[in-house]
Amino acid sequence: MMNNTTGSYRFDTLHKEYRHQELDRLERKADFFIELEKAKWVKAGLKSGMKALDLGCGAGFTSCEIAKITYPGTVIGVDFSEAMLEKAIEVKKSKGINNLDLELVDVYHLNFPDNYFDFIHARFFFQHLTNPMVAIENIYRVLKPGGIFCVFDIDNDWFTIYPKPESLTKLARKIAAIQQSQGGDAYVGRKLWSYFSKAGFIKIDTQVEVITSDKFGLKTILNLLSFGSPYYSQYKDLAIFAERAKKDTYSLINVAEAWAGFGIFMVTGCKPDEVLIRI
Ligand SMILES: C[S@@+](CC[C@H](N)C(=O)[O-])C[C@H]1O[C@@H](n2cnc3c(N)ncnc32)[C@H](O)[C@@H]1O
Repeated sequence: MMNNTTGSYRFDTLHKEYRHQELDRLERKADFFIELEKAKWVKAGLKSGMKALDLGCGAGFTSCEIAKITYPGTVIGVDFSEAMLEKAIEVKKSKGINNLDLELVDVYHLNFPDNYFDFIHARFFFQHLTNPMVAIENIYRVLKPGGIFCVFDIDNDWFTIYPKPESLTKLARKIAAIQQSQGGDAYVGRKLWSYFSKAGFIKIDTQVEVITSDKFGLKTILNLLSFGSPYYSQYKDLAIFAERAKKDTYSLINVAEAWAGFGIFMVTGCKPDEVLIRI
């Protein structure tokens, strides 16, 4: 059932054809970023034996990678989409992972004890939340003192392409407006530091990794973009408009001076070991 905390990512509303496309895109994104992410997790303190939580785990691509590092520790991947969790169960089996549990849980009703996890991870998740502060307060509660919280997310102002097709500019505006109308936030990257800080996290570290077409190729970068696909089943016109914008944008692959780049926000923070006494 949808309510004001459903947020802006509603996989269960997508028609079958779009579900396949979206899962393929999420897998491509997981593969593309995995080495960068692993380095960030390990630098933040993720290690063997830990108990970890992957929030909004989707199809579980990254949950499996966290599980490989924490083994023989355990990971719980949670998501409020039944369809996503079904896929995550398949992915877990196909990768032979046995220290990962998958549960249907909404971040606004995190039913875990206080001080339970050593490491909590949330990837491309905060951009879809209607109440990010409520979510992060829940996360803080279930994290052990000294535990680590790690977020990966986007900020639309950190995407740029030259030359920029007019159709893409319009599409980006439409997608951001839909996302906002559903309670999400396409500009969440710049706000993560303040969310961490307000929730009480310390040692907050924000890193923005810039991914460019001169390093990875324009086609690889474009293949990571959604062009609004999570909303096509709800907004038929958007799907039609996006086809045009996609065509215009992909045609840049043959334009010698074309260039694109985007920044990915990676934020980590720790729950203090002892309760700080504020005077
Ligand atoms: C863009 S997908 C990212 C999935 C995965 N983290 C990845 O990077 O491939 C966002 C996920 O968050 C889940 N989600 C959104 N709001 C949620 C909530 N309130 N509680 C639990 N899961 C939620 C969605 O169902 C979806 O699977």
